[in-house]
Amino acid sequence: MKAKMTVNKAYEIDKVDPRIYGSFVEHLGRCVYDGIYEPGHKTANAGGFRADVKELVKELNTSFIRYPGGNFVSGYNWMDGIGPANDRPKRLDLAWRTMETNEVGLHEFMDWANEVNADVNMAINLGTKGIDDARNIVEYCNHKGGTYWSDLRKANGRAEPYKIKTWCLGNEMDGPWQMGAKTAEEYGRIAVEAAKMMKWTDDSIELVACGSSNNSMPTFASWESTVLEHTYDHVDFLSLHCYYNNRENDLKSYLAMNIDMDNFIKSVASICDYIKAKKHSKKTINLSFDEWNVWYHSNEQDAKIAKEAPWSISPSILEDIYTFEDALLVGGLLITLLKNCDRVKIACLAQLVNVIAPIMTEKGGEAWRQTTFYPFKQAANYGHGTVLTPIIDSPTYGCEKFESVPYLESLAIHNEEKGEVVVFALNRSENEDIELTVDLQGFRPGLVTEFSEMSGFGLKQVNTKADASVKPAESKAAKVEGDTLTAVLKPLSWNMIRVAVK
Ligand code: AHR
Repeated sequence: MKAKMTVNKAYEIDKVDPRIYGSFVEHLGRCVYDGIYEPGHKTANAGGFRADVKELVKELNTSFIRYPGGNFVSGYNWMDGIGPANDRPKRLDLAWRTMETNEVGLHEFMDWANEVNADVNMAINLGTKGIDDARNIVEYCNHKGGTYWSDLRKANGRAEPYKIKTWCLGNEMDGPWQMGAKTAEEYGRIAVEAAKMMKWTDDSIELVACGSSNNSMPTFASWESTVLEHTYDHVDFLSLHCYYNNRENDLKSYLAMNIDMDNFIKSVASICDYIKAKKHSKKTINLSFDEWNVWYHSNEQDAKIAKEAPWSISPSILEDIYTFEDALLVGGLLITLLKNCDRVKIACLAQLVNVIAPIMTEKGGEAWRQTTFYPFKQAANYGHGTVLTPIIDSPTYGCEKFESVPYLESLAIHNEEKGEVVVFALNRSENEDIELTVDLQGFRPGLVTEFSEMSGFGLKQVNTKADASVKPAESKAAKVEGDTLTAVLKPLSWNMIRVAVK
């Protein structure tokens, strides 16, 4: 089949905020312990962090990492994680029914994030803690010195302030599973008071208020509206979370789930703008999609572990092993985030290592790339610059969840600095090539410098330590003539095409 995308150099959606390629490290399962941190591992440094994992994180090029939770943060006392490691308390983590040793805390994590070239998006506990704790952690991290908390940071070995810019005001506070869950009124009140005190402590920070835990929550939309009524003038972002699954094994619907993400983003942006209008405000609230991914493969096993082995240290939970079809959807979800980059400034693939993650590790052994590693890596490495408004003409199909789904999902990004246009494209057809034409109006395109495709694998094929062959390969089936790029996109394929432009 044939499909066409038209873009014009002058028709821009917005510049990509590099924080859109964020990720997430929670004290959960084997994400921290036996993930990024494994003292005794042959590649571990003196502090116990694995060099092989660091290398993969750098290859992934995630720019921004949310920490330390997630559900975990709603019962976390950040002071448990500072000071001499031997004096730190062991605590029950009620979120995941595990044991937290606090061997890794604020300083260790900040040092590690620095080594992988990522900024940290610090979440505070608004479940079991409150506004005093919120302002104290900002003073501890960001104040230069001469006060109780900033001098304590110095005494703990860090002279310079960490200057953490982005902070989350709690996590999924609407969810009954959350420690200290709240009504929208209760959360709106505590969030605005925490926000005021945190910004009074450091007025350079940016704050993310909690939106709904997902768009099927019964309070979705009214939660956003009430929370913003309270917090609008004091916060900068509203959060969105969503995980997708193919439990019903319905490929046609599954590969179109990014349409659901798009609807979710547009609904939340509308609610933000409704409150903006109501408040006669000049300020726009942007969106932080700070948890997104595929999550379902491990559900059954996790329920068993929680029942049979509660309170273990770093159990193997939420260890989804991703398939080729998951990688295709992750590619589609990335395109949707980028298409909405005028509002979505932050997004975090949840999570980074072992726990619903693109990187897997074996205790005492290897680290490897899951199938979903690749679309994220390509977007995070090459998806920078200005997203152009895509006009797409593609045949469509209908399915259980959506009336009309284009076989082609695509967009183009103009990287002014590098002098290139990068096209990302998903072919959702199970059996037909797409002969793609991209009209690059306003550009003087040169050569195709790279055409990388991920295709031809079994839908349920996964990567393992022994065989990680689900990955992109080079294709030659793209060329430029005049201002037109043409390419053949194989059935069920994720594609990246880079074209030099003037
Ligand atoms: O990422 C896993 C969990 O999903 C997080 O802890 C929580 O915020 C969400 O429900």
